[in-house]
Amino acid sequence: TNYNIGYIVGSLSTGSINRTLSQALIKLAPDNLQFTEISIKDLPLYNYDFDASYPPEGTAFKTAVEASDGLLIISPEYNRSIPGALKNAIDWGSRPWGTNSFARKPTGIIGASPGAIGTAVMQSSMRSVLSFLDAPQLNSPEGYIAFKPEIFDAEGNVSDSGTADFLGHYMSEFGAFVARVLDANAEGHI
Ligand code: FNR
Repeated sequence: TNYNIGYIVGSLSTGSINRTLSQALIKLAPDNLQFTEISIKDLPLYNYDFDASYPPEGTAFKTAVEASDGLLIISPEYNRSIPGALKNAIDWGSRPWGTNSFARKPTGIIGASPGAIGTAVMQSSMRSVLSFLDAPQLNSPEGYIAFKPEIFDAEGNVSDSGTADFLGHYMSEFGAFVARVLDANAEGHI
């Protein structure tokens, strides 16, 4: 079975290492996963005044999340938490009240940083947010990527075989997780 995976890059920076990581993950993913980026850069800052008449950017974001079989979030850690632009996007998707676009959506959270912690604290914050929004998450493997520029090129080719193997394993486990959650959703088990 083929699955449509929406992916969100949590960085707006032009030289984003997380965007590079996203390209590597896509290259190393199983063939039955097809990827579409869900952009967050044009979303205004959310407040509930928008609920009465959602702007097209907000509606497009929600529609893209809902149209995805699974959601992969590739994000930096900012000050030991979720970057504001990404949290803003999640807030857009969660509203108006009663129309949470993340409910029962299988998700994966991964990220890269130049430091050794590899976005672990951001991922922990993101798990709390996605849990509240009733989005099941791939629990294992976790992907805390200490980014080494010498092993990733701009197109997402990975020159270190150990890293490539790990990222490919992460994506095959993510694909299997998406399939399990969609099967459970279809059968009404969760
Ligand atoms: C950072 N950085 C960072 N790194 C980290 O591992 N933990 C952190 O808490 C932070 N905090 C932080 C705050 C802010 C405002 C910035 C701009 C940066 C460094 C960060 O990992 C590095 O800039 C990455 O390159 C960001 O990822 P992208 O944007 O290149 O994908």
